[in-house]
Amino acid sequence: MAYETILVEVKGKVGIITLNRPQALNALNVQLIADINAALDGFERDDTIGCVVMTGSEKAFAAGADIKQMQERSYPGTYLDDKFADWDRIGQRRKPIIAAVAGFALGGGCELAMMADFIIAADNAKFGQPEINLAVIPGAGGTQRLTHAIGKAKAMDLCLTGRFMDVNEAERAGLVSRIVPLADLMTEALKAAEQIASKSLPSLLSAKESVNRAFETTLAEGLRFERRVFSALFGTHDQKEGMAAFIEKRKPEFKNY
Ligand code: HXC
Repeated sequence: MAYETILVEVKGKVGIITLNRPQALNALNVQLIADINAALDGFERDDTIGCVVMTGSEKAFAAGADIKQMQERSYPGTYLDDKFADWDRIGQRRKPIIAAVAGFALGGGCELAMMADFIIAADNAKFGQPEINLAVIPGAGGTQRLTHAIGKAKAMDLCLTGRFMDVNEAERAGLVSRIVPLADLMTEALKAAEQIASKSLPSLLSAKESVNRAFETTLAEGLRFERRVFSALFGTHDQKEGMAAFIEKRKPEFKNY
């Protein structure tokens, strides 16, 4: 399927989405968010895909929601059409998603990267929530996910000043899991994605769901959830296979059930 604003490919068990509006630094318009969702719908349905990598260009992962498209919006229109709800679906996916970020990840671009499960960043990456400069605030989870990721002090600093954070600061703060040289970004992201995709899918989905619980509930509830899910995995073929393979000193052959 051909998309207007993204490129989509599959390498082995990894689905790759490349944001492709270079003339606007991958500004996220309605079409782009719809295209990402359509591609993710396909990857979620495809049993052969175990992980997704989402990336942009060397200059910009995404410089934010499309300001030209937002400029004339009204309050009732924005509230009633709930267009931005489409963004939420990206953060609700079950399969693991890695954001491979180079260049600017600003505003909605930073929010999109944070909807992925973790961020591998090139050494030229810059993160920020500069919406305050436009007299608005982050609207796709930035005030929440950024605060969870890097704590109140830095999240407030970024949201109130609109300043950009370089990749070293972002890694120190916990927003980024790994920094790699720009030239190696896709190689490293694909290596991580292939490593993930080689695991048993039920355990991947369970791990993702359980870690995400840590952001949504109390410690006691989260621990109970984890124990249930852990127990449930003993009902899978792949748990028997994984443990047998370890004991027999061979590679496991997972069947995703
Ligand atoms: C629309 C954008 C854009 C954006 C860049 N462009 N960002 N268009 N929406 N968010 C366009 C520019 O208008 C320009 O088009 C082209 O991309 C290149 O950008 P330049 O500004 O010329 O590049 P440069 O000088 O290198 O500066 C890069 C930049 C700057 C620092 C990233 O573009 C910038 O500050 N962009 C806006 C960042 C921002 O405020 N993001 C938050 C948006 S609000 P032309 O046609 O002029 O060549 C948001 C809310 C989220 O994200 C809510 C979600 C629900």
